[in-house]
Amino acid sequence: MKRICAASWLISAALLWQVPATAQSVTIPVETRNNALVFQTDANKNVGIIYLGSKLADQQEYNQVAAAYKQTTDYSGVANALYSTAGTRNLFEPALSVTHADGNNSLDLQYVRHETKQLDNNTSLLSIYLKDPVYPFEVTLYCKTWFNEDVTEQWSEIRHTEKGKVTLHKYASAGLYLRANSFWLRQYHGDWAREMQPEEARLTHGIKTLDSKLGTRANLFQPSAFMVSLDQPATEDAGTVLYGAVEWSGNFRVDLELDNRDNLRIIAGVNNYASPYTLASGEVFTTPAFLSVLSTKGKGEASRKLHSWARNYKILDGKGNRLTLLNNWEATYFDFNEDKLKALLKDTKKLGVDLFLLDDGWFANKYPRNDDHAGLGDWQENKKKLPNGIATLVQEAQANGVKFGIWVEPEMVSPKSELYEQHPDWVVKQPNRPEHYFRNQLVLDLSNPAVQDFVFGVVDNLFTKNPALAYIKWDCNAIIYNAHAAKLGNQSHFYLQYVQGLYQVLKRLRAKYPTVPMMLCSGGGGRVDYAALQYFTEFWPSDNTDPLERVFMQWDYSYFYPSVSMSAHVTDWGKQPIKYRTDVAMMGKLGFDIVVSHLEEKDLRFCQEALKNYESLKPVIWQGNQYRLQSPHDHAVAAIAYLNTQQTRGVVFNYLVNNRYEAGSVLPIKLKGLDPARRYRLQELNVYPGTKSTIDSSKTYSGEFLMTVGYNPDVKASRASVVLEIIATN
Ligand code: DGJ
Repeated sequence: MKRICAASWLISAALLWQVPATAQSVTIPVETRNNALVFQTDANKNVGIIYLGSKLADQQEYNQVAAAYKQTTDYSGVANALYSTAGTRNLFEPALSVTHADGNNSLDLQYVRHETKQLDNNTSLLSIYLKDPVYPFEVTLYCKTWFNEDVTEQWSEIRHTEKGKVTLHKYASAGLYLRANSFWLRQYHGDWAREMQPEEARLTHGIKTLDSKLGTRANLFQPSAFMVSLDQPATEDAGTVLYGAVEWSGNFRVDLELDNRDNLRIIAGVNNYASPYTLASGEVFTTPAFLSVLSTKGKGEASRKLHSWARNYKILDGKGNRLTLLNNWEATYFDFNEDKLKALLKDTKKLGVDLFLLDDGWFANKYPRNDDHAGLGDWQENKKKLPNGIATLVQEAQANGVKFGIWVEPEMVSPKSELYEQHPDWVVKQPNRPEHYFRNQLVLDLSNPAVQDFVFGVVDNLFTKNPALAYIKWDCNAIIYNAHAAKLGNQSHFYLQYVQGLYQVLKRLRAKYPTVPMMLCSGGGGRVDYAALQYFTEFWPSDNTDPLERVFMQWDYSYFYPSVSMSAHVTDWGKQPIKYRTDVAMMGKLGFDIVVSHLEEKDLRFCQEALKNYESLKPVIWQGNQYRLQSPHDHAVAAIAYLNTQQTRGVVFNYLVNNRYEAGSVLPIKLKGLDPARRYRLQELNVYPGTKSTIDSSKTYSGEFLMTVGYNPDVKASRASVVLEIIATN
């Protein structure tokens, strides 16, 4: 079915590429299964965006779109520019602004030609070539689309052949131009342990900028992921909503400008803060991709499309397996030795997870890593704690029938470390100014190839010495203060080249170790984006594992990231019982960070049983369609369901998030995504030992009933979290 649709689209696309709007203009519709993004040139060869929305049956009609709007004059004629420039007629926020080799600041980009390539039966790549009529300066705009998922990536390539260097002052990935009565921005903010806090507001005229200047851990205060609803805030199931994000793990910038015609210009890409780029003649500058997905059926559909795209095309091993694990971070912090770890390895098996993950504190001798003030950079096993090295632990893990993983933070250095003493010029810091620390540490200069080799070597050595090593947790705790790289010729290139250096290292690692699972951690969720996730199998959303907080956080992360990528650990944070904590962590990639030997017998039994349920349900949770049924932001009970694509099996998680008198599932909760004609049974899972489910699992309901009237999980103070399996009976 998919193939036929994609193929018929191919034919219509091929016919369409040169549909003329007027004698001089060219209309370029980029269509996916549901949507169209349409570009059009004018008589002066400017390329504008004339449409973004549901696709039309008759593609000729895109030519009528512009005339249907009777908005105030566009004095410049380039207000809807696909890639707006500076120094000529555009006086709105530019995507690209330059100083030419002769000192002139003007740029105009005119259409030359375009072409499209079908990359496979679902993916196509449009290239639009633009050129300045006065200067030998060119830009190619790329628009890659995934037909079935309605996902688009846009980026640009910038080059020139001027006699001398050109300075790029701003070099965004791409722009979009939207028309509607009103625009509602949903953005996210946070800090350590408070990641992904949503805020929604109507956009007013002027520019709203989402950005980061933190260098590393760039999402600490704000990620680049956002959504814009058109006309009214979209709900889960209704409304037009555009999700956007920059695929970049450093400083980003998203400008949302509501202009004099009440239209919304979105310009997104790398942050140009302190980063003018000097482009040599003949050099090609490639921006990272700006990712977007549009849904006219609400946020739920937008998420499902993005999840499916991410699993199929972006996240490393997105369709593959993941390992459940026991982490020792909160069980021991820095205070452990070989014996303690061996005991934890036994507990790993007893609990029933796949892997033991050794966290921070295993390394450094001259300045031992006994707290977070020393040792980062000295990646040799600490002889006191681990006299027989990591190798013994890996063997011990194998003897216990579990795998072994390890924590690293290879981009960082402690001022108290041998690495700092030996290579002060590898450290990002201003010469002649006092150092300023974030978590008592500094960042290594990844723009320096020698540092890239070192960082690669940290991980490579671990694998070389311990080929059975099965998991890496890659942490990144510091942001960059006093940005200065001793070996870099042009300091303005630092922020860019840091991230490029990081990707170089990750590329090298993945070339050598293509599939080993790696967790992207950044003192919590300080670094998650779809560029980084090409190298990682999962990310750590937050150090805040209080399950009540996690219900909210995982809900908000789930707009953009699928559960297979979201690590969620059961810890001692929060006041909820182990059942609630485990039920919440089961919505993601499950792990534990507790002292197993401290668990009461019933608690342990509960966890062991829950792990078995997880084993059986993980294909549905990781690869199924997610339906956010009831938001914790405005209900006493939050509910989220995952259903397999055949609509025959699912799981629904229900959590009480409100403590008020008699708060609970007073009303039924409507399921989504079921087959109305089938019959389903609801069976409660993760029932705590010694308690009885109040759900009658012998009853069956039609899909229609469950989606129209709903189900009642009987959530209340004494049943604060309820996990129900949904099983089709016919
Ligand atoms: C921050 C991470 O988010 C934690 O999970 C833990 O690994 C610590 N770093 C270790 O220092």
